[in-house]
Amino acid sequence: DMVTPMSIVIFGATGDLAKKKLYPAVYQLMFGCPGAPLVPQNANVVGYGRSPVALDDFLAKQCVNVKGGQKEKFLKQCSFFSGPYDSPDSYKGLHEHLLKLEGGGKANRLFFFSIPPQIFGDVVKCIHTSAKAPGGGWTRLILEKPFGRDSASFAELDACTSKLFTEDEIFRIDHYLGKEIVLNIQAMRFGNQIFESFWNKEHIRSVQIVFKEDLGTGGRGGYFDQSGIIRDIMQNHLLQVLIWLAMEPPAKYDRKSVAEQKVKVLKAIPPLKMKDTFLGQFGKNTWECSGGKVHQEPGYLDDETVPAGSRCPTYAGVVLEINNARWKGVPFLMRAGKGLDERMAEVRITFKPQSFNSIIPGDSNELVLRIQPDEAVYFKYLNKVPGWDPKRAAPVVMDMSYTKSFPDIYVADAYERMFLNTAKGDGSLFVGSGELTEAWRIFTPLLHEIDAKRPEPVIYPFGARAPAGMDEFAAKYGITMAKSW
Ligand code: BG6
Repeated sequence: DMVTPMSIVIFGATGDLAKKKLYPAVYQLMFGCPGAPLVPQNANVVGYGRSPVALDDFLAKQCVNVKGGQKEKFLKQCSFFSGPYDSPDSYKGLHEHLLKLEGGGKANRLFFFSIPPQIFGDVVKCIHTSAKAPGGGWTRLILEKPFGRDSASFAELDACTSKLFTEDEIFRIDHYLGKEIVLNIQAMRFGNQIFESFWNKEHIRSVQIVFKEDLGTGGRGGYFDQSGIIRDIMQNHLLQVLIWLAMEPPAKYDRKSVAEQKVKVLKAIPPLKMKDTFLGQFGKNTWECSGGKVHQEPGYLDDETVPAGSRCPTYAGVVLEINNARWKGVPFLMRAGKGLDERMAEVRITFKPQSFNSIIPGDSNELVLRIQPDEAVYFKYLNKVPGWDPKRAAPVVMDMSYTKSFPDIYVADAYERMFLNTAKGDGSLFVGSGELTEAWRIFTPLLHEIDAKRPEPVIYPFGARAPAGMDEFAAKYGITMAKSW
């Protein structure tokens, strides 16, 4: 709907996410994407924060990552509203502010929650009583993780949102579901007979879902220490990727059918166990750079916002199983870490070796979906090495890199797609409440055990490929942690 006035309200507008992702994404949809604008260019973008700030200062700081020729026009559509998060009066004020911008008639309103979950409940209540869209327009809430920290806290959170808004009005974001390659999983699996017929325990030996970051916690240590890598990356992003890899095809691509299949596959996963878990934490590291200069990278515990002696894992490897007809016996290894040697996310599917070919020794086929950087799909197979020897074969790679195959395609940032789908009312890429109940069921016992027993993580030097012992841990499940190719 490009006609009805629209307001986008960002709670937590002075924060890091708003600056890095939200303002740039909204700009792109209004002015930056090739072709027609995807969201009305006269949409009102309202930042909400606790303390008053001068609009110019706010925009200069929070819109530094907005880049493009129409930035001035965009900034004219932006305003800032300050007030407490829990006072209904403040939302009456917000409502008045929005009415003025919208012209007083029918309007649509999208509220983005980039705020801690402890205050979700208050904000939801206040929007409901004082700031819903006027004139029969829609009101939609985009909620950003963390969705609680275990089963009980999620249930509490969910109860307060579902009392006042319907599931169709709530958009729980997992930005990994907006990434091109993650979306491509469905197209590849269900669009190609060759993949779908091999997509099961008869042919697949193991699946790895990998997230690596070459940064530490850089000032976010306070937040991170409360969650750890399992809550920060695995229970949400990597589990969502796993779901798309493992689920059965939905009857339709609407929110309800997709959610049904997602919940179904999660129900087949037993709770994680400590014995199938590997934990690490990055320590400091020093190395010599060109010119003989010595570079020092602090360890996790050197971050001033991290409590002394914290054993919070910044790295984890977790093996889980799916007890259903398609997957029984196939290990799924998720591994995620900060302070490693590279920024990379990928899915690596290793096929069982060829069993009956005695002429050419079989090497396992592998399919790699590289989520980032440089989106790509690779398939490793055995090929005869050109030359006299007819039995000499070596693994080679079929390589489909996006920049080569789709040179002129605009690859949108995940947050752009998530905003756009919310504006369209398409919830099929968002996380349902039933899924989260299941996701927390799988992770809560392990997380509680880690919180209570505080097992000592393996310390790895900042910039390592993986903590020492992780390769051996993976090998126990028949998994080789190859480097990217
Ligand atoms: C966020 C985590 O959800 O995802 C961060 O809280 C992490 O710790 C980020 O850095 C990674 O996102 P991306 O899109 O850069 O892989």
